[in-house]
Amino acid sequence: MPSPAPVSWIVVADPAALALAAAQRLLARIDANAGRAAIGLAGGSSPKQLYQLLASDAYSKRIPWDRVHWFIGDERFVPASDARNNMLMAREIFLGRFAPRDHIHPIPTDVADPDESANRYERELKSFYGADDFDPARPLFDLVLVGVGPDGHTASLFPNYPAIAETNRWVVGVPKAHVEPFVPRVTLTLPALASCHEMLFEIAGEEKHAILTRLLAGESLPANRARSIGETVFLVDRAAADGDLRGG
Ligand code: 6PG
Repeated sequence: MPSPAPVSWIVVADPAALALAAAQRLLARIDANAGRAAIGLAGGSSPKQLYQLLASDAYSKRIPWDRVHWFIGDERFVPASDARNNMLMAREIFLGRFAPRDHIHPIPTDVADPDESANRYERELKSFYGADDFDPARPLFDLVLVGVGPDGHTASLFPNYPAIAETNRWVVGVPKAHVEPFVPRVTLTLPALASCHEMLFEIAGEEKHAILTRLLAGESLPANRARSIGETVFLVDRAAADGDLRGG
């Protein structure tokens, strides 16, 4: 039997250290791939400091922009210019300044509804991947970045919603969110998120401690069901860990 894909927990001092560790891992994954690399970005506020770091001289000069493609794991179904749009933050902070335009792959929201958006994004991912089915020997993404919500959701896979049980589709529409902002969502499914060399969770702040305790207890929450077929890494700061984990 193949051995289970590894899951590791890394505790760092604070959100700045967390962004630094995430940037280093992201760069290492890009460096490990000599060809075209694909990164799945995350929404929410957790990745903001990482994105700022990627825009800094130290990192922007080390990223081979001409061979990296940028996707997003989930999107709020609002216009691309709406402040709640996940890709907007990534665009404003770093992508818009450095990435070739055709290397930025947003989930489209200028379409009729979240289902149509999901269909289009799934087609785009399949075309980029060059196949309609995942080959475990050839993950779609080099790295997928994810966060965890207070209810244990990740991307826009909310607890007990039908999307979490999806095994066939790569992207689905979610008509109603379980947490703020209460706008429809479009999300990659568990199999699509799993198709990566590394899934990297960023969890920071004392407000995340309660959900982290539930994750560590092994509750069957979306964030505990999202796992890479390669390596899954939880980057946690001390305030979120609050004694539950050692390190950093
Ligand atoms: C979103 C997300 C979501 C997010 C978590 C954590 O669109 O909101 O992609 O899954 O990553 O809710 O959000 P914070 O980083 O804001 O805590």
